[in-house]
Order: sequence, then C-alpha cells, then structure tokens
Amino acid sequence: MKFLSKSPKETQKAAGVLAKKITRKTLQKRTALVLGLEGELGAGKTTFVKGFAKGLGLKNKISSPTFVLIKSYNLKLTTYNNLFHIDAYRLKDHEDLIRLGIKEIFSNPKNLILIEWSDRVRKILPKNYLRIHIDHIDENERKIVIENDK
Ligand SMILES: Nc1ncnc2c1ncn2[C@@H]1O[C@H](COP(=O)(O)OP(=O)(O)OP(=O)(O)O)[C@@H](O)[C@H]1O
Ligand SMILES: [Mg+2]
Repeated sequence: MKFLSKSPKETQKAAGVLAKKITRKTLQKRTALVLGLEGELGAGKTTFVKGFAKGLGLKNKISSPTFVLIKSYNLKLTTYNNLFHIDAYRLKDHEDLIRLGIKEIFSNPKNLILIEWSDRVRKILPKNYLRIHIDHIDENERKIVIENDK
C-alpha cells in the first residue's frame, strides 16, 4: 500500500486505521506481530506510532523511546495484550536487541511491536514483519509505503 500524507495528522490517521485493521483479525500465529518503521531522521516514524497507538485507544502519551530504547504499553484487546515501541537508532546492531530480551518479546503472539529504524536490526526481524517506509517529500508531505515482505 502506498499513500501520500500531507500532514502529521494525516499520517496519524492512516496509522490509526492500520492499527484497527491489524488488531481486528485473529490470525493463527505463534509469534508476535512486528512492524518495522524505516525512514530518515524526522521522517515521521514516531508520529506514525502515536497515531497507531491512538487508533488502539491507548490513552498513554506516546513519546519517543530514543533513550530508553524500549517502551511497553498495556492493550485491552482480545487479540493483543502489549504494545512495544522500540527505537533502534542508538543500537549498534541486532545483537543489542538480543541483549535487551527481544527474542522473548518476539515469541509472545499477544505482543504487537513497532520498531523505529528497523533496517538497523533487520537480521533479527521475523520473516513476515510488516515493513513501513516513510519518505520525506517536502516540509509537510510524506510518502508512506506499507508492505509485507513475506
Ligand atoms: N505528513 C507528515 N507526516 C508525519 N510527520 C510530519 C508530516 N509533515 C510534517 N511532519 C513533521 O515531521 C516531524 C516528524 O517527526 P518524528 O519524530 O515523527 O520523526 P521520526 O521519523 O520519528 O524521527 P527520528 O528519526 O528522530 O526518530 C514532526 O515534527 C512532524 O510534525
Ligand atoms: Mg522517532
């Protein structure tokens, strides 16, 4: 899916719609659902995560996990119990994520995980992760491409 966003609000709205769509279906899966967000500094990855969380009715204010690396939020859904927001920008590579316990987080099918700068830890991402790429077009325009690499 490709789409042009003309404002942060539009990006958040699109993310919220995707979040609702994703969490509605109860797929027969044995592992967590992972969404990888790619795009340069200030592309809109955190903005996307904020809209995604809003779409799931999360009241907590989402802030960038740049320094804590991983943040988690409780979800009151039948399909998913926890939302993880990870920022891989400061990680050297996927080994750092392993040290943070990512394998266990990936292993729980009730977990929904969004990773900013996922291209830095691509080696460890599950094969069926959902790739979201955000391109900076101009000040308020972003091209958002969502694809399942499977
Ligand atoms: N259409 C748009 N979609 C998303 N953000 C936009 C858009 N237009 C302008 N912006 C602005 O771009 C910035 C995006 O910042 P954001 O923190 O979401 O980026 P990021 O990709 O997470 O950056 P970082 O790599 O530092 O984590 C915000 O200031 C936002 O207001
Ligand atoms: Mg960010």
